[in-house]
Amino acid sequence: MKNTEYDFESVIERKNTNSLKWDLFGDDLPMWVADMDFRVAPQIEKAIQKRAEHPVFGYSIVPDSLFGAYISWWDRRYDFKMSREDMLYATGVMPSISSMIRCLSEENDNILIQSPVYHVFYYVIEDNNRNVLENELIYEDGVYRIDFDDLDEKLSDSKMMILCNPHNPIGKIWSKEELARIGELCRKHDVILVTDEIHCDLTDPGLKYNPFMTSSDYDKSILCLSPSKSFNIAGFQSSIVYSKNEDLLTKIKTQLHVDSSDSANVFAVSAVEAAYNESEEWLEALRDVLYENKQTVKDYLSSELPVVKLVECDATYLLWLDCSDLNISSKVLSEFLRQNQGLFLSPGVQFGQCGDKFMRMNIACPQKLLKEGLDKLKVGVIALNNIKSFQ
Ligand SMILES: Cc1ncc(COP(=O)(O)O)c(C=O)c1O
Repeated sequence: MKNTEYDFESVIERKNTNSLKWDLFGDDLPMWVADMDFRVAPQIEKAIQKRAEHPVFGYSIVPDSLFGAYISWWDRRYDFKMSREDMLYATGVMPSISSMIRCLSEENDNILIQSPVYHVFYYVIEDNNRNVLENELIYEDGVYRIDFDDLDEKLSDSKMMILCNPHNPIGKIWSKEELARIGELCRKHDVILVTDEIHCDLTDPGLKYNPFMTSSDYDKSILCLSPSKSFNIAGFQSSIVYSKNEDLLTKIKTQLHVDSSDSANVFAVSAVEAAYNESEEWLEALRDVLYENKQTVKDYLSSELPVVKLVECDATYLLWLDCSDLNISSKVLSEFLRQNQGLFLSPGVQFGQCGDKFMRMNIACPQKLLKEGLDKLKVGVIALNNIKSFQ
């Protein structure tokens, strides 16, 4: 059911706004980086306009009310009770993970991630001179699952694990049982677990994600949360770090300060509070729209382009397309679609070598753009196959 109160239909021109998605490369239709082409909730717009009316934009503090907004959201939506003293403010999930890597591990330590996974995990580990250890997810009959034997073995040689819950790019909600098992294995090998739950609110209607901390009582776990994906406010660069482990939290607090990643920009508090305190109804409407968009892609692919298969998923607006039947590397395919059709989908190899026969498609856009994107994909794939058949 479509909610008519909010506008998820209008195509908003984003070119020439210094948008990473629309202005960095100048493709006709960018469907890569994870931000949405929708207008934000009216409550957020209003809160920002109100703050902008005050003509002084000096340094900001982070009031307790901001942490209160997080506490209330997770309590009422996920029955997860957090307390203020276990929270730290950060200027984004990735800045905080980078700080955690620096203060909780040493150079050349192994840090485990589950590939295919959000590509910036690789960069942040490698840029900090640590080693990536991959626990490749098993892909069988169109479904992903965790290879727990491999995880057990690799955690024995890891200092830290970064979990993506729900998982980008495969869009999977990890079950309570899977999360509890991960917690047990981290406990067994004394590995610090960082759980990145930035995509948590964007589940299919009727489904909820499982917070790691309501599934496991592992005491060396650290949680990263942010409204930036759910409410399309990544540009305000705002997140929190949460842990019941006082020792870990103290170290992270110092490191965030050393890295100058612990203070809010002048609009962040207004945006975050308006999101969590006033925009829940908008989020519910958005989830319906994203689900509808996913159905559109599913129907389109099965009737018009069956050579590309949608991997079943229940979270995020990032669809993972199985292109293995095209028999071409994802980089070549992505480049071809850009050159031939002006369509930019993320090549799967970006998320790990095991993602090479996949493409990631961001469907958080009005139906009109989504349909254009699907048509471009179809025409591009046909053109590619025509070229291949002449070779
Ligand atoms: C899993 C995951 N973590 C973190 C981020 C980025 O978070 P931030 O902008 O707060 O650094 C993204 C953005 O796409 C993401 O997908």
